[in-house]
Amino acid sequence: MKILTTISDVRETVKSWRAEGLSVGLVPTMGYLHEGHKSLIDRAVAENDRVVVSVFVNPMQFGPTEDLASYPRDLDADARLCEAAGASVIFHPEPEEMYTDGFCSFVDMTGLTQALCGLSRPVHFRGVCTVVSKLFNIVGPDRAYFGEKDAQQLAVVKRMVKDLNMPLTIVGCPIIREADGLAKSSRNTYLSEEGRKEAVILSKSIFLGKKMIEDGERSAAKVTTAMRELINTQPMAEIDYVELVDVNTMKSIEKIEGEILCAIAVKIGDEARLIDNFMMTV
Ligand code: PAF
Repeated sequence: MKILTTISDVRETVKSWRAEGLSVGLVPTMGYLHEGHKSLIDRAVAENDRVVVSVFVNPMQFGPTEDLASYPRDLDADARLCEAAGASVIFHPEPEEMYTDGFCSFVDMTGLTQALCGLSRPVHFRGVCTVVSKLFNIVGPDRAYFGEKDAQQLAVVKRMVKDLNMPLTIVGCPIIREADGLAKSSRNTYLSEEGRKEAVILSKSIFLGKKMIEDGERSAAKVTTAMRELINTQPMAEIDYVELVDVNTMKSIEKIEGEILCAIAVKIGDEARLIDNFMMTV
């Protein structure tokens, strides 16, 4: 497995694969890879002849007060995981390689991005759409793999690909959880021992909301209120949002029907802002 740092090297490599008629999968990541990422890489390896994993902490998707500087990084461990999983290349550019002097072109989306994480992280999805478009243009994959944990990101990327006629398939992969239910996330490493114990309240509230709907509850307010009450039992937990939305529009719903997304974001003290969700067709 090769680690490439320049756009031209990635293009040359993919060109040689294409000359042999090989298919190409892309797994975009910000590194510090865990089993959630591994499940994306495994799927990409199973479905493509060659797989590129991008490892790039994208400055453009972080707000000024967010955790860009402290975001965890460990390229050696990432390389070991990618190699063992059967990836062909890690693309690990410096920010200057991706954003050259005078960079001023962005991919921006309205609607879907003006809800949930888009409200508390106003620049986030512009940064995601821009970097993901660039990665698609650099690698030119047949398929790209994204985790369902970032459900809004997945919906946004699918919409962007449709709206801008990008010639690839977006594959969403299920959330991978710790034994106690906490969704795997690179940001879990920010948690103290106490914070880690309290963070399990996110998945507990997700399982509660899901069960209420499975048992027949159709009032969005009743489900989100019960989830909020449960989260608020933890002293360190501060709710950013607990929402039931239409998965295609990200607009809040009152009655639970059709394709729905129940999404939450919760801060655990000053340690971490974590997200979780479930999707359902009712
Ligand atoms: O989900 C992530 O890790 C990032 O948002 C992504 C898709 C790699 C873009 O930087």
